[in-house]
Amino acid sequence: MKPWVLCVSAITAPLVLAQSDIPISGSLQSILSHGASNPLYTYPTQLTQGIIPKPIHSHNDYWRPLPFWSALSVGAVSIEADVWLYNETLHVGHEQSALTSVRTLDSLYIQPILDVLHRQNPNSSFVTSPPTKNGVYDTSSGQTLYLFIDVKTNGPKTWPYVVKALAPLRDAGYLTTFNGTAVTSGPVTVIGTGNTPLNHVQGVSPRDYFWDAPIPTLNTTFSNITKEVSPIASTDFAVQFGDVRNQEFNSTQLALLQSQVQMVHAKGIAVRYWDQPGWPVGTRNAVWRTLYDAGADLLNVDDLEAVANFWDNKG
Ligand SMILES: *[C@@H]1O[C@H](CO)[C@@H](O)[C@H](O)[C@H]1NC(C)=O
Ligand SMILES: *[C@@H]1O[C@H](CO)[C@@H](O)[C@H](O)[C@H]1NC(C)=O
Ligand SMILES: *[C@@H]1O[C@H](CO)[C@@H](O)[C@H](O)[C@H]1NC(C)=O
Ligand SMILES: *[C@@H]1O[C@H](CO)[C@@H](O)[C@H](O)[C@H]1NC(C)=O
Ligand SMILES: *[C@@H]1O[C@H](CO)[C@@H](O)[C@H](O)[C@H]1NC(C)=O
Ligand SMILES: *[C@@H]1O[C@H](CO)[C@@H](O)[C@H](O)[C@H]1NC(C)=O
Repeated sequence: MKPWVLCVSAITAPLVLAQSDIPISGSLQSILSHGASNPLYTYPTQLTQGIIPKPIHSHNDYWRPLPFWSALSVGAVSIEADVWLYNETLHVGHEQSALTSVRTLDSLYIQPILDVLHRQNPNSSFVTSPPTKNGVYDTSSGQTLYLFIDVKTNGPKTWPYVVKALAPLRDAGYLTTFNGTAVTSGPVTVIGTGNTPLNHVQGVSPRDYFWDAPIPTLNTTFSNITKEVSPIASTDFAVQFGDVRNQEFNSTQLALLQSQVQMVHAKGIAVRYWDQPGWPVGTRNAVWRTLYDAGADLLNVDDLEAVANFWDNKG
């Protein structure tokens, strides 16, 4: 059960890939370099042309040079922003000293995502009603983008502001929704984490936001979390598994990983671990590989470029 759809047949080789180390003739070069301005070689949804979505979660995404855009450029299907409520505005950053007045949930995430979705859903005479609901990735338009919102300030006070901040995406019909019975997938799936209060999500319908359930509590007798509440569940890797030595999980660690993945998947919920080792690089890559091979659905990463390369080279 993978929540994303990799639609390989739809991937066409974009012109830019022709710019390799192989020498090309002067006249071909001139056609290639003029392609960008020639309507024959451009099309409306090409912003994310050729980017293949990957099960990557861009952890602390606001730390990147260009929040959201950096993750988009490598094909991450999931991103995470920490939000702090001050004076009725949601500011984005890792800690209070990193906040500024202009870096807000709206300016760094909602508006840029909306911008991409407007491009991917053009209003043209070829598109008949109802309007398209393509996701951000041109190569896989049915792929949702998970937007994790990590609430840092008081949960019950802050969450209603998050719900309000989603209005531009909601009004355009771009959010994954729950109507009390069924979930309808949309271009963006919002998942509250951190201080997000469960009782502001579970039991609420209709709604267009979900909750990041802790993996270890999912099979306790008091848990009534369903996939309609939590499409993805997460937990702290280091707390569950401790140190990974010699670049491999020992038998206890591997057994726990397999049983957690199986338990969560049996509920139709996807699996994400955070706080895995980022160093040494050999250990980091071995952990990514073990998690992926065991069926973890999102690889939580801080180094986007490394994971994108890891993906490309994965045998
Ligand atoms: C919040 O508003 C008050 C009153 O206008 C102002 O003094 C304060 O600096 C503001 N705080 C932030 C974090 O913007
Ligand atoms: C799309 O085009 C139609 C026809 O010109 C227009 O009525 C409509 O408002 C446009 N919608 C958007 C979202 O631009
Ligand atoms: C909820 O959505 C599902 C799937 O689109 C639909 O079949 C069902 O009728 C809807 N239920 C309500 C109460 O709107
Ligand atoms: C889930 O359990 C909680 C706590 O026991 C309870 O308050 C809530 O009503 C239950 N919700 C559903 C949808 O069953
Ligand atoms: C596996 O590693 C964990 C964490 O380092 C350790 O607590 C556990 O005892 C190890 N189990 C085995 C069987 O070596
Ligand atoms: C819950 O799942 C964990 C991890 O898969 C497993 O170790 C534990 O035995 C399960 N507990 C119950 C009550 O099923």
